[in-house]
Amino acid sequence: MPVFQFEYEEFQSQDELRPSFQELLTAARNACQHAHAPYSHFFVGSAVLMKNGCIVTGFNIENASYPVGICAERTALASAIAQFPEDQIEAIAISYQSEIHPSDRPAFPCGMCRQFISECEDRNQEAFPLILAGEIGPVVVVKTIKNLLPFYFGGKDLSE
Ligand code: THU
Repeated sequence: MPVFQFEYEEFQSQDELRPSFQELLTAARNACQHAHAPYSHFFVGSAVLMKNGCIVTGFNIENASYPVGICAERTALASAIAQFPEDQIEAIAISYQSEIHPSDRPAFPCGMCRQFISECEDRNQEAFPLILAGEIGPVVVVKTIKNLLPFYFGGKDLSE
């Protein structure tokens, strides 16, 4: 029977990451402070590292009409692609803060964000890692969104 397996890295703390990823995770953690999350009180921050060295941040922006809200990863990625449409993405970090829910472990991207990140990766023509962590605690690094979205639907399915 076919089996889907993937490898991921788990670090005990941010200090064990390479310096550029440490800086990226710090940017994601700082971005949580700007989240507009008056309904869930779940403050998510994200930071995208471009090949040119720039870091673009984003955060969740909720709406009184709940489904209108947007997640942090999509805010950051849309902003990064809009600002640097010719450049490639090197990595993305995602973190969160919440007084209601413990933030001592990573929260993984929601299904809609996985689909969105997958398209960004295809557009990027190169896989990029996801660095996931809570406010404190272990940091998980996943090499490609495709590991979190097996059997994904993408542009390949719409080609003639
Ligand atoms: N959220 C994100 O920003 N990213 C995720 O991957 C999971 C969920 C946001 C959406 C909503 O504003 C809040 O977290 C609670 O679901």
